[in-house]
Amino acid sequence: MSSPLRHYLQFTDLGRDDYDYLFRRAALIKAKFKGYELHQPLVDRTLAMIFEKHSTRTRLSFEAGMHQLGGAAIYINTRDSQLGRGEPIEDAAQVFSRMVDLVMIRTYGQEVIERFAANSRVPVINGLTNEFHPCQILADVFTYIEHRGSIRGRTVAWIGDANNMFYTWLQAAEVLDFNLHFSGPKGYGVQLDRPGYPVTPAQAAHLREFDDPVDACSGAHLVTTDVWTSMGFEDEKLAREQAFRGYMVDAGMMRAAAADAVFMHCLPAHRGEEVAAEVIDGPQSVVWDEAENRLHGQKALMEFLLLGRLD
Ligand code: CP
Ligand code: NVA
Repeated sequence: MSSPLRHYLQFTDLGRDDYDYLFRRAALIKAKFKGYELHQPLVDRTLAMIFEKHSTRTRLSFEAGMHQLGGAAIYINTRDSQLGRGEPIEDAAQVFSRMVDLVMIRTYGQEVIERFAANSRVPVINGLTNEFHPCQILADVFTYIEHRGSIRGRTVAWIGDANNMFYTWLQAAEVLDFNLHFSGPKGYGVQLDRPGYPVTPAQAAHLREFDDPVDACSGAHLVTTDVWTSMGFEDEKLAREQAFRGYMVDAGMMRAAAADAVFMHCLPAHRGEEVAAEVIDGPQSVVWDEAENRLHGQKALMEFLLLGRLD
């Protein structure tokens, strides 16, 4: 069995219908997992995972997920492979895609995974780039649906850095039709003309920017944030710590949100920086379900990319 070649490099690579299917499928796969029921549609399939940056959740969820689906996963990092010694990404793509069925890549520039995908015979999944982190938003929206139902028409408040996570939320806002509020310090805000990946007018129509983070949280159904210094930006850490003061998600911001608002963070988190301990460890936080759902969402995604829709 095989499906037409499809990559998952940005959230916009799939449509609302595909996501409806994936969320249903992830729920089914999760229920089977919880019931210790085998679900092995990918017997004899192999996933290669290429990491150029650190990871805990992404590696764990893809590796465990592929194993649970009946296949195998191979971990490669650029430090001890030829990828770290200048082998052209196009050549690597040719070789990888002759030996495995699926490739996940975590790297710096989005253009790297685009070049890999353009030379690959098998589906390529974005496991995080400087620009986007679609697998995380897949899990986050699935988590919202589990807790509160459809995200359509709801409001998500993003507090802090306009980073890879933020721009993926913005893509999701358009695809899944919800509102996105943003508040962050000057110099780290939304760049509508981001080089290579500009925000489209259709995406911008779902976005509202606020000077005051409390106003951004007002009435929100989901409040979320991320580290102030993403991987690859470590040189800016000190300047960022200064700039982002006042943008820690705290109890006051959660009080401004809807009474049944949930809090999410893709993790790893820094208590006392981007989020107060009382919020991430408090009753509105769903961060552990969110992390777990990386596993179930990506199992649905891998199955979909390799086999297409099964119901
Ligand atoms: N949220 C996330 O992608 O975590 P890791 O960096 O640990 O993979
Ligand atoms: N924005 C963060 C997410 C880590 C999962 C980073 O890119 O480092």
